[in-house]
Amino acid sequence: MSGFSDKGGVLHVDDVPLPDIAEQYGTPCYVYSASVIRDQFNALKDAMKRVLPADRQPLLCYACKANSNIAILKLLQTLGSGLEIVSEGELFRGLKAGFSGDKIISTSFGKNESEIKACLNAEILQFNVESPDELNNINKFAAEMGKTANILFRLNPDVSGGGHSKIATGRKEDKFGNTAQDIRTLYKLSNEMSNVNPVGISIHIGSQVSQTGAFKPAFEKLAELVVILRNDGYKVERTDIGGGFPIAYNDEQLLDLDAYARLVADIILPLDTQIQMEPGRYMVGNAGVLLAKAQYIKQTPSREFLVLDAGMNDLIRPTLYEAYHGVRSVLNHNTNTKTYDVVGPICESGDIFAKHREINEVNANDLVVIQSVGAYGYSMASNYNSRPLPPEILVDEDNICLIGRRQTLEDLIARENIPKWL
Ligand SMILES: Cc1ncc(COP(=O)(O)O)c(C=O)c1O
Repeated sequence: MSGFSDKGGVLHVDDVPLPDIAEQYGTPCYVYSASVIRDQFNALKDAMKRVLPADRQPLLCYACKANSNIAILKLLQTLGSGLEIVSEGELFRGLKAGFSGDKIISTSFGKNESEIKACLNAEILQFNVESPDELNNINKFAAEMGKTANILFRLNPDVSGGGHSKIATGRKEDKFGNTAQDIRTLYKLSNEMSNVNPVGISIHIGSQVSQTGAFKPAFEKLAELVVILRNDGYKVERTDIGGGFPIAYNDEQLLDLDAYARLVADIILPLDTQIQMEPGRYMVGNAGVLLAKAQYIKQTPSREFLVLDAGMNDLIRPTLYEAYHGVRSVLNHNTNTKTYDVVGPICESGDIFAKHREINEVNANDLVVIQSVGAYGYSMASNYNSRPLPPEILVDEDNICLIGRRQTLEDLIARENIPKWL
């Protein structure tokens, strides 16, 4: 059976019991299921296939900020995915994983010189442009290098979408995108530039967007702008409709993918453009757990703390976004439940994974998982409190591979230097 499931009271990933992984690699560690990633990629692709004609299928460009481990990238590349990148580092990873430049799109917000030049060198499919100065820089560097860059302009549609205000990106007060009026000007400007080729419009309204109703006004504004630009006499060949597809963390209502695909068919398809999408979280979020050990159980007058050996440096989402993640013990033999504050060892009161959470009773040294951490988990981890980054393990049926080793203490100081004068 693929994914995470209970077999005989022991939580497994695919065919592998999680205690075996803890024994071999130690805790805390990230554990991913390759089959879940495959299933998610295919579910999104199939939803589009059911509704959109065969010759108008969107290019799915995995947004690798969600999880940029090179093995995960390789897995998605073999499935036929494209790649959305937001830094030179992500470009480097993508190329190493085997993505060809013509399947990579750059959507970063403040593209720097080195990143733009690296993207031009890799002859990426397109740059999604955030501002006039960025456009000027891309044109300038492309001219220096004798290249031509395909450009999409990111529209800020001024709509609210996203599961938390820090992951909503399409409101007018957000830093992202340009107004429709500004894009008309930018299209004109770029048509007069020597080394950029304006080809379309992009949007991305936020992450964990669960209502098709949130996408609708954004799509409509995108479509309106395409018509205006064409009336202005410009070519609009591509529309990039972003990511934002939600996953289940708890019992939230999920986006109806078929309804979403119908919305694309109703509003985007008639524009007769190539369609691109940038799913991140959806591909990998439910494919990963953070496997940890209960270090201590600490009772105070007001509550009982379950102290894990994983901390907010390993998984910052609960602290940063008040994000909900399921927590459960790996062995399900104990049927008594208890209510804990599940915390880590970091010197911050905010180092909390779950507050007032009722789960099966846990004893010190028991294994516990924090669920649905495949997206924005490891990729947001840090060395805070000088804690080495945890290992990452990919499981595919009964295949187990260490795809990222645990950092050592020496790794922590490897790039540091004490001045001679001290
Ligand atoms: C431009 C852009 N595209 C795609 C994504 C991926 O979003 P999600 O992981 O919600 O699909 C993001 C996430 O921040 C983004 O900024």
